[in-house]
Amino acid sequence: MTIVVTGGAGFIGSNFIFHMLQTYPDYRIVCLDKLTYAGNLSTLKGVMDAPNFRFVRLDICDREGVVRLFSEEHPDAVVNFAAESHVDRSLLDPAPFFRTNVEGTRTLLDVSRRSGVKRYHQVSTDEVYGALPLVGGQAFTEQSALHPNNAYSESKARADEIVLQYAGQGFPATISRCGNNLGPYQHPEKLIPLMIVNALADQPLPVYGTGENVRDWLYVEDHCRAIDLILHEGRSGEVYNVGGHNEMRNIDVVKLICKELDRPESLITFVADRKGHDMRYAIDAAKIRNELGWLPETTFRDGIRRTVRWYLDHREWWQEIVSGEYQSYCRRMYGDR
Ligand code: NAD
Ligand code: DAU
Repeated sequence: MTIVVTGGAGFIGSNFIFHMLQTYPDYRIVCLDKLTYAGNLSTLKGVMDAPNFRFVRLDICDREGVVRLFSEEHPDAVVNFAAESHVDRSLLDPAPFFRTNVEGTRTLLDVSRRSGVKRYHQVSTDEVYGALPLVGGQAFTEQSALHPNNAYSESKARADEIVLQYAGQGFPATISRCGNNLGPYQHPEKLIPLMIVNALADQPLPVYGTGENVRDWLYVEDHCRAIDLILHEGRSGEVYNVGGHNEMRNIDVVKLICKELDRPESLITFVADRKGHDMRYAIDAAKIRNELGWLPETTFRDGIRRTVRWYLDHREWWQEIVSGEYQSYCRRMYGDR
């Protein structure tokens, strides 16, 4: 079986590639990635020489390039992780979000259908459902209405609609919607790695607003197992929510990181809130549990310990990132807020 994995030089895509190569040594994995600021080839160095792995630098919006690659590889399946993924960046400049997340998804679907791909999987997010109140409100089910509140989630919701449109026309496609992931290889622009990296440098830990906002966390390996299961056993045209009932307030996550790193909570600095900041996400994952037997295996506490350990042991990986494009992003980000 040959699987094209897009966005495999990013956080979740790379973890998915490691999971698949380890679980299915007879599969061929072809990683297609544009290598934006969020993609790092060094992340994939451990698998680059594997005989059943190929990396191709390509934009999912480049139809001709994708057609060429698919005619060489004849993939059986496509898993689409490629995206602009950071909400704060979508507030600064929404255009790349609609280009990659919407038009890129449409291009991939179209080329996949024409190339006879037997299964397409779209990696989506709980953010498409919008926000819940801090207290009360039902956790998101697959039937919840879509209420995206920023350009990132709007672009992901539009992509989901296109996937469902193709599935409705008979093309075998599935969608998973997951909450916040934690684990190795996440870009330090996101909450958990940002706090680890800043705490290690004894820099302020910028918590937006009051820090009361709640996210539903899942260890990245559990997410990868869920996608694997949906790819093999999920029903075409279906959406599967993925989550581990790990609702945490941001402020509590940051305090836990201080504790794990033995850094003082006085580093915590409350800063201006994110515009349109979603208050709370919570996922009802009963469908994937009942239909496919998926259950998370890593508790949040274990996940955060493993993540902190990983960043301590891989300083060269994130130091290269924070000394590059990230510098100009931080200037734009804090200058504009
Ligand atoms: P990421 O930002 O770490 O990685 C994105 C990858 O996509 C990068 O390697 C980048 O180079 C690549 N890419 C971007 N534009 C591209 C293009 N036009 N063509 C080809 N490659 C391109 O993202 P992530 O956090 O790993 O998220 C992966 C997917 O999972 C995204 O679709 C995101 O919406 C979804 N998701 C993320 C989370 C999370 O907590 N991180 C949770 C739920 C869903
Ligand atoms: O819910 C799934 C989504 O989780 C994914 O679809 C997105 O791709 C992923 O980036 C993530 O989105 P969030 O906006 O929830 O993640 P982020 O790490 O940016 O922020 C998590 C929370 O922490 C959020 O409430 C904002 C807050 N925050 C974030 C940063 C970067 C801070 O308080 N301070 C910060 O510096």
